[in-house]
Amino acid sequence: MTEKLKVSTDLQKLWQRGCDFLGVPYAIMGGAMTWVSERSLVSAISNAGGFGVLASGSMNPDLLRAEIQGTKELTKQPFGVNLITLSPHLMGLIDVCIEEKIKHVVLAGGLPSGESIQRLKDGGCKVICFAPALVLAKKLVRMGVDALVLEGMEAGGHIGPVTTSVLAQEILPHIREIPVFIAGGIGRGEAMLSYLEMGAAGCQLGTRFVCATECVAHPKFKTAFIRSSARDAMPSVQLDVRFPVIPVRAIVNEASKEFARTQQCVVERFSRGEITQQEGQLEIEHFWAGALRRAAIDGDIEFGSVMAGQSVGMVTKEQPTIEIIQELIAQAETALEGRLIA
Ligand SMILES: Cc1cc2nc3c(=O)[nH]c(=O)nc-3n(C[C@H](O)[C@H](O)[C@H](O)COP(=O)(O)O)c2cc1C
Repeated sequence: MTEKLKVSTDLQKLWQRGCDFLGVPYAIMGGAMTWVSERSLVSAISNAGGFGVLASGSMNPDLLRAEIQGTKELTKQPFGVNLITLSPHLMGLIDVCIEEKIKHVVLAGGLPSGESIQRLKDGGCKVICFAPALVLAKKLVRMGVDALVLEGMEAGGHIGPVTTSVLAQEILPHIREIPVFIAGGIGRGEAMLSYLEMGAAGCQLGTRFVCATECVAHPKFKTAFIRSSARDAMPSVQLDVRFPVIPVRAIVNEASKEFARTQQCVVERFSRGEITQQEGQLEIEHFWAGALRRAAIDGDIEFGSVMAGQSVGMVTKEQPTIEIIQELIAQAETALEGRLIA
């Protein structure tokens, strides 16, 4: 691991629970990003003292195994794996995590089944889940999950309707049994600190890590991040309640406009009786298939999906992962010092 920055006693106290849970010096998780969070970025985050998480969104069990083994070659520090509960390969992916002795698995993309949680726990994995509301947070605790992530709608990628600050206030005071991490819209250390002071065990960031030097995202994808402001990262628009759209926050581009036109066209054809509701819904859902890869890997930032959170405005340059992490810590420390002096 690269030279560690010494953390003040005050900051250490605030995130000790998160550090102990993850087994890392800094309770900063690198949110898994499909196509982006592969061995290079994940190992860089873990080597810098944070907790990298591999994204398996595009992988079958064989690919995941290869990626885990590749990551282990690049870091001896702990890292986790993110599994999408809707994956047709879920049980196979779980088995790979267990066989590869992964200690932390994040289950994303909807409420996980009791079976998947149990299988992971029986296999020796700690299970981390997303809680989009207090009632679900309590249910997940009862189901035996080991930690929660509260992710607000400021985040990049698939989002819910509630902001990070409201989720934190709604859930943090009521869940003390297990560590809770906060994600969505965190671009600087002061924000990270404020959630720790509210009782969070640590934070998870995605957008801030896209322009890490070690990140394999296409240079055009990174440039789009560097050029964009918070207002450019918007949720996908739904035109008609009969054709629901799962909101995804991404930088507005030609594809966003084309998506609106596609929905308009579907609604018109449905109204004329030319297609069924189911056919229309499928067409809408199909629109974004492969779009993140097109942007993040192929560099087609106009017709692909440039998923990014509102903190994109705080991404101003490409920089080494360790610098990003140390900057976040330094900002938190300065804010803490300021308060102690005052
Ligand atoms: C390009 C991109 C891809 C993402 N892909 C995933 C994913 O595959 N699985 C997941 O659970 N979250 C995904 N996320 C969400 C991140 O893991 C993380 O929680 C989020 O980025 C945190 O909010 P922030 O972007 O405001 O830092 C993605 C986010 C981005 C920006």
